[in-house]
Amino acid sequence: MTFNSVNIKSILIGVFGFLIFGAEIAHAQQSKKISPNLFGLFFEDINYAADGGLYAEMVQNRSFEYSPSDTPDWHSLTSWNYVTQVFSYGTLNIETTNPIHPNNPHYAVLNIEHVGKPVTGPQSDIPQNKGTPGLGVKNTGYDTMIIKAGETYDFSMFARQISEEPISIVVSLQDTDGNILAEKNLTINSKDWKRYTVTLTASESSNSASILVLGTSKGTLALDVVSLFPQKTFKNRKNGLRSDLAQLLADMKPAFIRFPGGCLAHGDGIGNMYRWKNTVGPIEQRLEQKNLWGYHQTMGLGYFEYFQFCEDIGAKPVPVLPAAVSCQNSGGTWRVGGIGQQALPMEAMQDYIQEVLDLIEWANGPATSKWGAVRAAAGHPEPFNLEFIGVGNEDKMTSEFEERFNMIAKAVKAKHPEIQLIGTSGPFSDGEDFEKGWEIANENNVSLVDEHYYKQPEWFLSNLNRYDSYDRKQAGVYLGEYASWGNKLKNAIAEAAYMTTLERNADIVKMASYAPLFAKKGHTQWKTDMIFFDNKKFALTPNYYVQKMFSTNYGDTYYKNIISIKKDTTLSASCIKDSETGDIILKMVNTGTEQKRMKVNLSKFKNLIENAEKIVLEGNAEAENTLDNPNHIMPIESNFKVDKSFDYLAPPMSLTVIRIKTATENIKIN
Ligand code: AHR
Repeated sequence: MTFNSVNIKSILIGVFGFLIFGAEIAHAQQSKKISPNLFGLFFEDINYAADGGLYAEMVQNRSFEYSPSDTPDWHSLTSWNYVTQVFSYGTLNIETTNPIHPNNPHYAVLNIEHVGKPVTGPQSDIPQNKGTPGLGVKNTGYDTMIIKAGETYDFSMFARQISEEPISIVVSLQDTDGNILAEKNLTINSKDWKRYTVTLTASESSNSASILVLGTSKGTLALDVVSLFPQKTFKNRKNGLRSDLAQLLADMKPAFIRFPGGCLAHGDGIGNMYRWKNTVGPIEQRLEQKNLWGYHQTMGLGYFEYFQFCEDIGAKPVPVLPAAVSCQNSGGTWRVGGIGQQALPMEAMQDYIQEVLDLIEWANGPATSKWGAVRAAAGHPEPFNLEFIGVGNEDKMTSEFEERFNMIAKAVKAKHPEIQLIGTSGPFSDGEDFEKGWEIANENNVSLVDEHYYKQPEWFLSNLNRYDSYDRKQAGVYLGEYASWGNKLKNAIAEAAYMTTLERNADIVKMASYAPLFAKKGHTQWKTDMIFFDNKKFALTPNYYVQKMFSTNYGDTYYKNIISIKKDTTLSASCIKDSETGDIILKMVNTGTEQKRMKVNLSKFKNLIENAEKIVLEGNAEAENTLDNPNHIMPIESNFKVDKSFDYLAPPMSLTVIRIKTATENIKIN
């Protein structure tokens, strides 16, 4: 730092401010470069976030793979109804001989023995006489299907003709009264599994539609992977994502996305670990499995789709692989009688390590490499530029974990020193697993350690100095999961206060992501979530707005001592510059119940443009947004005139972001 007239001026202003303000927080005048990746997202298929959520597939149990191991009363025909129309009869069975792929063993067999004829005359009005004559299966989707008039839907299914004659099929979208919203005909004419497709354009809208696959000629056929997608997915991708929900994430401009979990990544027992290879390739060949949050994973949203989505929104992919041990809660340790953490046997470790290395080749290798070719076959010949891999998720720090983590870390570092490894430190902010996790990670010289904690808002407010004293020489921090327990404004504002301290410490806290991300109405296992949704709409929590206000107003340099606040635990603030735009960004948080003054001194910066943008999230501490009242609490944008120095009156329970444009290069001191 050079000592010049500006320094002297700044110091004088600081001293003057100190005299007026009394005991202010004093820092040496200085700036520091901070992580470019601080604010990202964590996506886990919990609360129906993927199947029935972000993944736009509308048919539930499309491959007839549901089973009681997902949830006790589920089976191959969950979400399907057997339908006969106009006195037709036959049978519906689930079979497993000669499936499309061994990973996808179950399929439905329709035997259409008789196709009825409509009666005429006085009895023609009875329900059995309605509709096209035939026999089939109807899917009611994930809590029914939303169909919009004028929109087109891609229907596909795999089928195999078992009887001699080709079989006629009518595919229709229907509302609850059986009114046809769209309809197309198909002929099943192959004795081998074949994919059949039609597009359906809806004539009417319905909030409770279903899809019917009706055999209308005699014969027997096998059906599998019966699928319906809106054509309007995010970026119109096939096998894509629900556009409204995906756009909410894109709007946050996250630096990265961590996926696929969470506990989902290390799984309920070793047989349930999330194995990335089972989730790439054609959807009919992916290995579905139970979701440890009490439902089912089709893997339709698999590694390819995660990476593609990251690329589509400019976020870095951060896959988390199990450290070859399962969740310590396997078998329900939180209930009585769980089996606890399970480890892959040592003889399986070489293959497992290869699986980790293969992921790097799949993501970054040339299209001519073995695994790069799998990526290319899916439509992405260019590498995905993977930079990070997480190994483990808040695992119990047993000797089994340590041994396996060390083996994986050693192999990845040896073969791919360019990849930044992320270790794990248990489920809590401190304690035995936390200490041991850090120790193991540091011994392995990993780049980052993943910390997780869910706490009361008061905890966040009394830990605003947590990272100030972290050793800058050890691994960086990835705060991979955190949230204050609740989605009220007071929770979000406590998180905002904490996030200013993440910015202050972004030389050591390199990445952070709130958790969990999505929660579907009626299917929520975890109560603190960022976005609530149903099939049609969503509610953005105050926590979402806080995250977005930070992630869309981030930069690369942190400045100390720009905002002076009274020594007051209810207040917190930070100042960041974005070198790309030259913008100076101030964040000011008041977690108290009264308006509070903050003094802003911008004399360090040149060429400030007086007209700045201000965004304020404020309100009643208990305020929250719900699906029925989604806009109760929202940030308000306005213009704000800035001066070299000014006082800002932070409203009670508020986060304010002020974004100040500059005319040219503006920094006098570094
Ligand atoms: O975010 C919900 C769960 O919380 C995650 O799956 C797990 O990592 C943590 O315990």
